Amino acid sequence: MSDGADITQPTHSQTRQGQAIRGQTWDPDRYARSARFVADLGMPVVELLNPQPGERILDLGCGEGARTEKRAAFGCLVVGVDGSAEQIEAARKRGLDAHVVDGQALSYDNEFDAVFSNAALHWMKHSDAVLAGVWQALKPGGRFVAECGGAGNIATIVAAVYQALQSRGIDPEPINPWYFPTPEIYTQQLQAHGYTVTSMELIPRPTRLPGDIRDWLEIFTGTFLNAVPDADRSAVMNEIRNVLQPDLCDAEGQWTADYVRLRFAATKPDQAKLSQTQEDKT
Ligand code: BEZ
Repeated sequence: MSDGADITQPTHSQTRQGQAIRGQTWDPDRYARSARFVADLGMPVVELLNPQPGERILDLGCGEGARTEKRAAFGCLVVGVDGSAEQIEAARKRGLDAHVVDGQALSYDNEFDAVFSNAALHWMKHSDAVLAGVWQALKPGGRFVAECGGAGNIATIVAAVYQALQSRGIDPEPINPWYFPTPEIYTQQLQAHGYTVTSMELIPRPTRLPGDIRDWLEIFTGTFLNAVPDADRSAVMNEIRNVLQPDLCDAEGQWTADYVRLRFAATKPDQAKLSQTQEDKT
């Protein structure tokens, strides 16, 4: 992949985010085998988070907890939430404070120094509900730092999946589980909720897959594939694979997914501090 990282872990889920999207399930073992790369590629956003010892941090869409564990190693008190009961069970086995919670219906109240998320927000289509819940969860002055799929993310894959479904008379749009916003749109959304946006980047990051694109399709495209009769599913995956091969597979058989990351940092302004500063100036 262009940034030199090799992949191996994804994050999360539709179901992970509570709103079970029909057909997408998360098998932590399989995920760890074939999709661990997502966590492995998450270091730049952890650097942007800049966790400090003693901080209380909410890991939104923590999956099976590999990254949560790393942040705990910074001396932070990390709470992980994910919509997938299977992933949370795996996270708890790591000894993490993890809970099955829909990221679109958070109910924490002014208690976190930071909310962090990697490769999970794009599974939460109700983005305004996420932004409201994160806001409520943060202490005044708290940070919201995240990376997710941004505009153009896996565009080649999405086009091939759409083509395969449409050719069978299935409309993929209503079952598309992903939200890949532009930096402009997401900045506007954050600002509309009151956040101050301190950093917003769209980063193309072609990513080498650890195996065949079929593995990726099997893990991540459950909602689309479940719209296809069982008997046709394997043929559909082969068809998608064939369409993608010229663009995403090299002569050595190495597959690369056309990932594009939206990486941002925002803060919930501390109104009391701001008022004090204003008073001090006058
Ligand atoms: C992503 O990390 O961008 C992603 C992973 C799986 C499905 C869709 C997007």
